Amino acid sequence: MRPDFDSAQDLPQLYTMLDAIQVKNGWNKPTPSLYPEPKQRFVPAHWPYADAHAALHAAGRLVGTEWAERRNLILANPVPGNDYPTVTTLVAAYQMVKAGESARSHRHTPNAMRVVVEAGANTYTIVDGVNVPMEPGDVLLTPNWCYHGHDNRSTQDAYWIDILDAPLVQLLGPMFFEHHPDDIEKANTTDPANPMRFAFSDYHPELLRAAECAPGVRTLVLGPPTLDTFDRTAIALTAGSCWNVTRHTCNEIYVVVKGRGQSCIGDRQFTWGSGDVIAAPSWIAQRHEADEDVVLIRMSDTPVMQAFRWLRSA
Ligand SMILES: [Fe+2]
Repeated sequence: MRPDFDSAQDLPQLYTMLDAIQVKNGWNKPTPSLYPEPKQRFVPAHWPYADAHAALHAAGRLVGTEWAERRNLILANPVPGNDYPTVTTLVAAYQMVKAGESARSHRHTPNAMRVVVEAGANTYTIVDGVNVPMEPGDVLLTPNWCYHGHDNRSTQDAYWIDILDAPLVQLLGPMFFEHHPDDIEKANTTDPANPMRFAFSDYHPELLRAAECAPGVRTLVLGPPTLDTFDRTAIALTAGSCWNVTRHTCNEIYVVVKGRGQSCIGDRQFTWGSGDVIAAPSWIAQRHEADEDVVLIRMSDTPVMQAFRWLRSA
């Protein structure tokens, strides 16, 4: 029954009546819904590879791929109440597949990719029935709804970093996931030049030939885009160089492929090395310094910001 709005004598009485018709007043909100510039829930963060390696080595004893969909460590941004996104739209995770082991094939609507940290010869991601080799420094893509599994036929455990847009898919809603009917998809061909692979041996020399965009800084977009929601850029910093990045609306994750250095993101300072991951949430200025010749891979939700004309910097 509709409340008798004409009988309301004061605002508290009116608010009680608004609750009864399932609406909220828009003139006295507890938190503003519009504000002058972005608020950032997440913080800059850094995960050293040595920690993840040790933890995954232990997980290798305790967690079998026959029951775990993936043996991985989620790099949840360390703010209270968060157990998944690394930055607003993206999640990163370290994954390990032991020598001789496979991780079953599945597909999902989130776009996914990985940067390989350690892998022996004959380690593959099977993408839609093709063995795609995984070598250290390689970047491999598995777009929305492509079947993918992992098959380590080498004699050494393989470690890599997965990046997915699953937080964005969770927010928007169109999440679908299913297993491959064959458990691990059969692959009859091996294709080192597959378009889903950016081999380190290909992109690294190309990156070093690129013109400098700042003293000692070179970038190379790993394209064509293939994934609709986030992109990948290889970045080379020569020893001693530093790179200032003005704050912008894109959310980013960095993976250190090679070298050592430091980053200052907002008021946080990190010292990093090969295999480490750094979260750079949007609207926070960044400064990166190289102690040695460095190669980074930066994942960014720039395509989303561009598609809706929300790409800004200041
Ligand atoms: Fe997957």
